[in-house]
Amino acid sequence: MAKLWAGRTAGDTSKLADDFNSSISFDSRMYRQDIAGSMAHASMLGAKGIIPADEARRIIDGLQTILDDLETGKLAFDPDCEDIHMFVEQVLTARIGDAGKRLHTARSRNDQVALDLRLYLRDETDAIVGKTKALIAVIADQAERYKDAILPGYTHLQRAQPVTFGHHLMAYAMMLLRDIDRLRDGRRRINVSPIGSCALAGTTYDTDRRMEAASLGFDGICLNSMDGVSDRDFCLEMLSALAILMMHLSRFAEEIILWSSWEFKYIELSDAFTTGSSIMPQKKNSDMAELVRGKTGRVYGDLAGLLATMKSLPLAYNKDMQEDKEPVFDACDTVKMCLDVFAGMIGGMRVLTGNMRRAAQTGFINATDLADYLVRKGLPFREAYKISGRIVARCIEEGAVLETLPLGEYRAFSPLFDQDVYAAVDLDACVNRRVSEGGTCVPEVEKQIAWAWTQLAAL
Ligand code: ARG
Repeated sequence: MAKLWAGRTAGDTSKLADDFNSSISFDSRMYRQDIAGSMAHASMLGAKGIIPADEARRIIDGLQTILDDLETGKLAFDPDCEDIHMFVEQVLTARIGDAGKRLHTARSRNDQVALDLRLYLRDETDAIVGKTKALIAVIADQAERYKDAILPGYTHLQRAQPVTFGHHLMAYAMMLLRDIDRLRDGRRRINVSPIGSCALAGTTYDTDRRMEAASLGFDGICLNSMDGVSDRDFCLEMLSALAILMMHLSRFAEEIILWSSWEFKYIELSDAFTTGSSIMPQKKNSDMAELVRGKTGRVYGDLAGLLATMKSLPLAYNKDMQEDKEPVFDACDTVKMCLDVFAGMIGGMRVLTGNMRRAAQTGFINATDLADYLVRKGLPFREAYKISGRIVARCIEEGAVLETLPLGEYRAFSPLFDQDVYAAVDLDACVNRRVSEGGTCVPEVEKQIAWAWTQLAAL
């Protein structure tokens, strides 16, 4: 096929080179953005008198028919076209004749592709924020339901101090709220228009970049045309934000997997979000959580790949940059799926509060409270810590627990112990005494939940 760029060369490249060069198999998904950009461009060219107004009109109408036909499936992408930009222009010219050939005035595929990708990523960012909000809402609902369910809080995966399940869940809500903040912040830098940068140096035509940018909903324009066509920071920033978001989902997934095991059995996932084994009839596997954890590596790879692609590119556009789209698409697709699956999984999980409480009753997770008790009686914390440690060691020897160790035995370690020690080591009391801001007591968890809801409402 004769190339639109056949000028200096005759354009008869080998089929192998054509296939290698082609990006239409993946950039065709930006057809809506490409057409919207071309409509805005034609409209600006017409308004500025760079092309006749009636031809601008015909271009826009022609583009609309292409959009409609692509949406309804009447028009199919031509795999022999180099990319989506060439495809749309070729179909346009086939449909409306010579007017179509004027569309590419004062434009290059270099600024066009940067424009399309920014428009695409802007929409994807909004979609991902929406799905993240939906997941946070599911988490906040579960946190409300289990705001006083006690389980061991862990450090080093060793039982540490009692916390509430609501508190634990809200930790993830906080992470995801930060993710939204990062995505929205990155969106400000996506939403700057490169169109009009042309190939790299700007143009000799009397264009109005700001008019074109405003008509596409941009907040401003790239102020340096060389930067405009070669900047992919907005992709890298989004990939970084998505990598961090996936890291959060992956940590959560890891806990879901642990909690679902017989070793913990704090939760049971719904049948809708688990799988069985083809050989072991008893199995209920948390495949969804495992896949989210697995796909995290994939999104990290998308980020690492694009960073590597960009690192040595001289200004301005280089064909290497065609490699920007697949990681961006892959990361967005992956994150959206993971967020949906996660919301379904968390919303439908059964929380086994009895098992959580049973686990909280072993492991001496009230030992800090025992030390705090002695501190309240006047002992310096370090001494109180030592005495409590000895008591724990004794309990382990005897198979006893702090809740029921006889007062006489307590007193053998310190005369400061009294009957009120039992109230001090009571699990509910341990939780409800943690009243510091952000702590695990029920009113503090309620505050965290309320705060999350106000954040979601404000978005
Ligand atoms: N398909 C190309 C890309 O994705 C479009 C820009 C091509 N520009 C060029 N001068 N070859 O980057």
